Amino acid sequence: MATFTLDGREIPFEPGQTLIEAAMAAGIYIPHLCWHPRFEPHGSCKLCTVKVNGRLCSACTFPAAEGQEVVSDADELRQLRRRLTQMLFVEGNHVCPSCEKSGQCELQAMGYYVGMTDSHYPHFYPLREIDASHPQVLLDRDRCIFCELCVRASRAEGKNVFELAGRGVHTRLVVNSPTGKLGDSDLEADDLAANICPVGAILIRETAFRIPIGQRKYDHRTIAEVSLEEEAPLVGKHRD
Ligand code: SF4
Ligand code: FES
Repeated sequence: MATFTLDGREIPFEPGQTLIEAAMAAGIYIPHLCWHPRFEPHGSCKLCTVKVNGRLCSACTFPAAEGQEVVSDADELRQLRRRLTQMLFVEGNHVCPSCEKSGQCELQAMGYYVGMTDSHYPHFYPLREIDASHPQVLLDRDRCIFCELCVRASRAEGKNVFELAGRGVHTRLVVNSPTGKLGDSDLEADDLAANICPVGAILIRETAFRIPIGQRKYDHRTIAEVSLEEEAPLVGKHRD
């Protein structure tokens, strides 16, 4: 079987696999927020940045190839991932102590994982429209990190409820319904699209703070441990 090295360890891969797929299948976590094993990669968050033969690449989009030398566990990359995480924090309104997603949030867990202790950059404090029109699902756009996971999930479910519109700082999550409101869309609370958001932008109503502190997903486990347990087994199963 063909192999590449990741931080000096030999990693086997199947033809067509990306670096992150091969690494995760081999039980090695590469940080990521916009990648999910069920969907085509989006390549937007850049948390998965590694060095391939000395060049920076996104592990979620870069194909594995025989003999590549890949570095992920390095101070330079840890520093880069910390800065990227800080940027994601300041671009939205991520106030963890008052957020319903606290303890269950991938961005918050990533902050801990990369050793983030401050925001470093000035906060944008965006003012984006909250959509509370749906009886079961709330959309708080100020917390969106534009990972496109809800878009890909909804597309796979055949509903196409969500889409990203605009560019740069003007990017917005929009809803495909006659009024542009979630309440007039086909979204249902048990859709994957309503439950895949890695942050507190899409929330299921009347579930906030139900899980006590100490029992939440990331209270005692790192994002790396959770990801290897929940996502690694899905690699290569099927892609929507
Ligand atoms: S709402 Fe959530 S899942 Fe959808 S793009 Fe924003 S952060 Fe990603
Ligand atoms: S996980 Fe690769 S760019 Fe987001």
